[in-house]
Amino acid sequence: MITRREALKSALVGGAAVAGGLTGATNLWAVPKRHDLVAQNIEYQLMQGAPTTKNLFTFGDAMPPTLRVKQGQPFHSRLINKLDEPTTVHWHGMRLPNDMDGVAFLTQHYVYTGDHFDYRFTPHDAGTFWYHPHCNSLEQLSYGMTGLMVVEEAEDPGFDQDIPVNLRDFRLGGDGQFIKLFQARKSARAGTFGTLRTSNWQSAPQMDVTAGSLVRLRLCVTDVTRIYKLSLPEGTAAKVIAMDGNPVTPFAINKLALGPGQRADIALRIPDDEGQTINLTNFSSSAPWTVLSLRAIGPSLKRDLREIKPLPANPIPQPDLKDAEYIPLEFSAAAEKRPANPICGSLGFSFWAVNKRAWQGAERGPLDPVAVLKRDKSYVFEFINRTPQTHPIHIHGMTFQLLKSNKRKLQPWWTDTALVFPDERVQVAVRPDYVGDWLMHCHIIEHQESGMTAFMRVE
Ligand code: C2O
Ligand code: CU
Repeated sequence: MITRREALKSALVGGAAVAGGLTGATNLWAVPKRHDLVAQNIEYQLMQGAPTTKNLFTFGDAMPPTLRVKQGQPFHSRLINKLDEPTTVHWHGMRLPNDMDGVAFLTQHYVYTGDHFDYRFTPHDAGTFWYHPHCNSLEQLSYGMTGLMVVEEAEDPGFDQDIPVNLRDFRLGGDGQFIKLFQARKSARAGTFGTLRTSNWQSAPQMDVTAGSLVRLRLCVTDVTRIYKLSLPEGTAAKVIAMDGNPVTPFAINKLALGPGQRADIALRIPDDEGQTINLTNFSSSAPWTVLSLRAIGPSLKRDLREIKPLPANPIPQPDLKDAEYIPLEFSAAAEKRPANPICGSLGFSFWAVNKRAWQGAERGPLDPVAVLKRDKSYVFEFINRTPQTHPIHIHGMTFQLLKSNKRKLQPWWTDTALVFPDERVQVAVRPDYVGDWLMHCHIIEHQESGMTAFMRVE
C-alpha cells in the first residue's frame, strides 16, 4: 500500500530526475540512498578454529557495516528485523527528532520479527558516531549488534586513508559459543567482561597502510563493559583530533581513557620504511595488550601531519552559562538490591539508581522524567558519582560541553558520553534543541539494565 505522502514524494522525484537529466543541475529532490540494516543471526569465526554458531546477532552478514554519510545530507536507513525477537536502532550521539531515536517504549514501538522501520534524519554534526539496538540491550549488544557511523565533513580534511575501528569484546567459551553474559555480583560493581578482545571482529588485526601516508583512525568503543586506556608508542607522529565525534584541540594519545560509547579520532602519520609497524596498546587490564597494528607498505607518500586541515567545529547550540539552570544528577547504588521484575531484557536486579530511583525495566518506567527542560534554554547538569566505579554517562539527542570537575582539569570538549570517575562531580552545559523524551544512562550496559537509567523531557 502506498501512502499519499509516498506517492507525492515519488511523483516529485520522478519529475526532478528528468529535469536534472536534461540540465545536469543538482537534483534537489534526490532521495537519499537507503542503507538497509537487516537484523539477523549469523555464524562467524570470531575465535580461531571455533566458529560461533549460536546467538551471534548482527546487521547484515558479517560485522555490522560502517555507515558513511555526509554532514547535512538526509539519511535514510531501513531496519529489517529477521531476528526471533523485537529490536530497534538507536543512533548514538546524533541530535535528531525524538521519534527517530530508537528507544523501545520511550520513543517508538518495538520492531517485531518480520517487520521493518524507516529511520530518516539529517546528521548535523560531522564525526564518528555509532548505532545499536535499544531493546534487550545487554543481549543484543553483547551478541554483536554494534556498528559505526561516519559522518563526513563537508570539506575533506585531506587524509589518505580512513580506518574505522569497532572496539569490543565477545563473551565466549573455549568452544566459540557465548557463555552467560553477566554475573550479578559483577554487575553490581564494574560489570562483567568479555573473554575475546576484538578490533573489527578480529583479534589484534594487522592492517597494511601506505608508508608515509596520513591515516585517520576512528576508534569507537562499542563494548558493553570495558573502559580502554589507549596508547601509541612514544614518538609516534599522531594526535587525537576529535573526541566523541567533535573536534578538539589536538593532543598526544597517552593512556587515553575511552569508555563504552566513546570515540576518539586519531590523525596518524605512517612511518616511511616498508614493514615498520605501529601498535595501539590497551593499558586498562593487568597486562597491556595490542589492540591493532598498522604496518607500512610500499614507497613512502612523504606526507606531513601539518597538511591536514583543522576539523571545523560542529554547529552545536551554545549554552549561555549566565542564564543556565542547575540540575544535579546523582548516580548511586540502589537503596535496596532486590530482584526486580525483568522487562525487556533488564537484568532482573536493581543495583543502581539515578537521583535515588532505580529504573525498573530496561526501557520502561518509572515513566516520569528525572528533569523537565525547555528547548533552547541553557542548563548546567552536575553528574555526581557516589560509587567506587567509573560510569560513562550518556544522554540521548543532545551534545553537552564539559565544564569542570572536582578531581581533574577538564578540556571544554563537546560530547554525548562523559566518563565520571569514582566520587567525581562533573559539570556540563547544554542547550537542548529537540523536544521529546531523551534517555540518559550509564553505558556499561549491566548498569543501564539494573537501574542506572532515567530520561529527560524537553518541551
Ligand atoms: Cu549508545 Cu542509550 O545509547
Ligand atoms: Cu555505570
